[in-house]
Amino acid sequence: MNTICSKIITKNGHSTKELGRKLGSLIADNLNSGNISSNNIAIAMYGDLGAGKTTFIQGFGRGLGVSEEYYITSPTYNIINEYPVYLSDSYKSSNTIPKIKLTLYHIDLYRIGSPDELEYIGFDDVASSDNCVIIIEWPDIISLYNKKIIKFDMDVTIKIDKDFNRDISLTAYGLESINLLKQVA
Ligand SMILES: Nc1ncnc2c1ncn2[C@@H]1O[C@H](COP(=O)(O)OP(=O)(O)OP(=O)(O)O)[C@@H](O)[C@H]1O
Ligand SMILES: [Mg+2]
Repeated sequence: MNTICSKIITKNGHSTKELGRKLGSLIADNLNSGNISSNNIAIAMYGDLGAGKTTFIQGFGRGLGVSEEYYITSPTYNIINEYPVYLSDSYKSSNTIPKIKLTLYHIDLYRIGSPDELEYIGFDDVASSDNCVIIIEWPDIISLYNKKIIKFDMDVTIKIDKDFNRDISLTAYGLESINLLKQVA
């Protein structure tokens, strides 16, 4: 499969959030314009404790279209957080009840000790659902799961460098993700 990788260094949490926002809003734009055909987009977030994964996702959610009414918090304890996303602003000016266009699932598998537990938290349902964007912190355990139920479109890896800046690599798999990543850089 075709792959490209792009690297960015951020010097503070705000810049990491802004990078997340940029990726989220590009996904929203590309979904709106029909340039992304997949209705289930999955992103894996790698990096040590405190690297900035949740910080990135806070910006990502806003960029994608999660309303300011929702505070995007770490799903460390509840494991799966779910947010409605409206792809365009058009619903705001109409009198009709807004329809949710897609769901953002923010998942943190840090506390999942064995792959069997994935089934109990409802991971299969999320991974196979339509009209969603799934972004997962600590996804490594999924590779030990016997059901190969999720295919990541993109990986984001955050490393803390010697000056405590963050070295962020984004890797895209497949043509649609590659086109998207080219717009980020
Ligand atoms: N360049 C940077 N990018 C991201 N975060 C930074 C940066 N510089 C400092 N920080 C700080 O590092 C912390 C990152 O915390 P965050 O919760 O996002 O990490 P995490 O990778 O999600 O950790 P965990 O694995 O515990 O969930 C925040 O307090 C943030 O302000
Ligand atoms: Mg986190």
